Amino acid sequence: MQRVLVTGAGGYIGTTLVPMLLDAGYAVRALDRFFFGADLLTPRDGLELVREDSRRITPAHLTEIDHVIDLVAVSNDPSGELYQQATWQINHESRVRTARMAKEAGVKRYLLPSSCSIYGFQAPDVICTEQHAINPLTTYAKANRAAEEGVLPLADDGFTVIVLRQSTVFGYAPRMRFDLAINGMTYGAYTTGKLPLLRDGTQWRPMVHVADTAAAQMFMIGFGDPARINGQIFNVGSDANNYQLRPLAETVRDTVREATDRDVEIEWYGEPDDRSYRVNFDKVEALGWKAQRTAGDAVVEICRKLQSGGLDKTPKTITLQWYKELDRWHQIIRDVEMYGGILNL
Ligand SMILES: NC(=O)c1ccc[n+]([C@@H]2O[C@H](COP(=O)([O-])OP(=O)(O)OC[C@H]3O[C@@H](n4cnc5c(N)ncnc54)[C@H](O)[C@@H]3O)[C@@H](O)[C@H]2O)c1
Repeated sequence: MQRVLVTGAGGYIGTTLVPMLLDAGYAVRALDRFFFGADLLTPRDGLELVREDSRRITPAHLTEIDHVIDLVAVSNDPSGELYQQATWQINHESRVRTARMAKEAGVKRYLLPSSCSIYGFQAPDVICTEQHAINPLTTYAKANRAAEEGVLPLADDGFTVIVLRQSTVFGYAPRMRFDLAINGMTYGAYTTGKLPLLRDGTQWRPMVHVADTAAAQMFMIGFGDPARINGQIFNVGSDANNYQLRPLAETVRDTVREATDRDVEIEWYGEPDDRSYRVNFDKVEALGWKAQRTAGDAVVEICRKLQSGGLDKTPKTITLQWYKELDRWHQIIRDVEMYGGILNL
């Protein structure tokens, strides 16, 4: 049985990927601080939960590991700006360090889930292949690029290194994120009839379903001919999910209307977005991988979950808000804690 170390395993992508890996017969060592809760991964055979900070990973965490999927990150632009130092340490330094340690430990494959946000702003007629000049605009995107530059040179015949530049992800996951475009639009449309749309709606953004991006990661660790993927960058998404935000919002609006029979209107917010990029996915598709799901599929899925009462927009589903909340409580507890407790000592 092959064993995979998944860092950031308790996150949005991780809580989708880990059960898929287990279903496919892999054993999984799921390492995370579990900032969003340790209960989102159901205990089962083959799953080992490790509560650890990625900056403190040691060779012991890599024993008997065949593959590493290094999902760990401060995972969006606003959090990256507020927590810049941590973002560099976690998204860049810890991942390069883990990759080096993995190579020393004899791990076969290391996969870095990076982001298409590295392309930043591009002219509307440009469709970025992996060779296209990048334009990382934020701390989050710059740290991802630095991680790519740090891990790719480690590739050699015995150690396969793959970078996946993921599109913006959408769809339901146990660690739900409503701070992602399609998920947030669906929530607003479903609960208030107002669909939030970031100005000015002409910006291009590639999207991918969370189960599809998880499937792409599994595809890469299972791919038969490492020479074809080693030291390579692949964009992950599909042309069908290369959206301009206004038409995307209209699709979400129409799907929510159909699924719920309620009226939905678009509500603009924010300053015009300066990130706009279209992405080409020929390279990953030439290997035989293809995304299966569209935005409409996820909107129906999220509406059903909301309808069933099994899902809501809590602070935990907004990444930045939750990290700020944890910081606030950390301070409150530090101020009142004595002898390791509050009232009960
Ligand atoms: N979600 C997207 O749209 C998207 C798009 C492109 C790339 N990505 C990348 O995919 C990866 C996963 O994203 P996600 O959406 O699942 O994010 P997420 O925030 O849901 O998950 C990140 C996980 O990392 C954990 N974590 C954070 N710092 C840690 C540390 N120092 N040590 C141990 N654990 C720590 C958190 O507890 C969390 O469970 C990230 O690298 C992200 O940059 C995501």
